Amino acid sequence: MFFKKKREIEYDLDMNNIPQHIAFIMDGNGRWAKKRKMPRTYGHHEGTKTIRTLALEANRLGVKAMTVYAFSTENFKREASEVDYIFKLPKEFFQLYLKELMDNDVSIRYIGHLEMAPLETRRIIEEAVSQTSRNHGLILTFAFIYGGRDEIVEATKIICEEYKHGQISLDDINEDYFEKHLMTKDLPPVDLMVRSSGEKRLSNFLLWQLAYAEFVFDDTLWPDFDEERLHYAIAVYQGRERRFGGVVK
Ligand code: IPE
Ligand code: IPE
Ligand code: MG
Repeated sequence: MFFKKKREIEYDLDMNNIPQHIAFIMDGNGRWAKKRKMPRTYGHHEGTKTIRTLALEANRLGVKAMTVYAFSTENFKREASEVDYIFKLPKEFFQLYLKELMDNDVSIRYIGHLEMAPLETRRIIEEAVSQTSRNHGLILTFAFIYGGRDEIVEATKIICEEYKHGQISLDDINEDYFEKHLMTKDLPPVDLMVRSSGEKRLSNFLLWQLAYAEFVFDDTLWPDFDEERLHYAIAVYQGRERRFGGVVK
């Protein structure tokens, strides 16, 4: 098996200021393949290697959580053949890398409507989640059939049910309470959001959670994104001043 050779990493990272939670919009697989006159699916295939590379490196750096946008609720607009291919990738990914991720104490989770995926895909992902549930390293979350607006609507519905059944009063509903009903409820706050491929939009990703995250947009296409670009994004993050609406003296 061949993996990309590590490039020289030259950013002087402050190990006391590593983002706890990094969220990636993995974009540019199709364009990466097109540049090589290959089908878009080949780009998706190559893009999964980047997830492995970044998860291992993020884990090594002490990042607590990494969330990757793997399939959006809007991605069903694509051709069925491409959608079917993407739904087969978890099997390939976990066959190749689950053992290594396990050995590195990585814990797998997902957010999104996994119940809409084919049975085999669901089984594979659920199996990876359960096998790694006692690990304490990086939490690697796949946003799969995920949409930020949908997540907010779903949380609202759960809270409405609670209200309807008299379990809570209106005064119980506040930002903290709402957040506990999101799919990300057990994850730390997102500190850094990175989107590859040069597009500068959120495409319905983690709309609530990104309210105060730092954004880094990188022109690299996802299959080419590597440890060096991760270090660069963290270096940019460390150069930012986070104010959360306050004033830094
Ligand atoms: C990201 O790459 C992967 C998914 C959205 C599933 P794209 O497939 O969006 O690649 P481009 O943007 O067309 O290059
Ligand atoms: C966002 O990328 C979704 C994922 C990375 C899974 P898209 O390529 O689907 O987003 P748009 O269409 O460019 O906004
Ligand atoms: Mg895209």
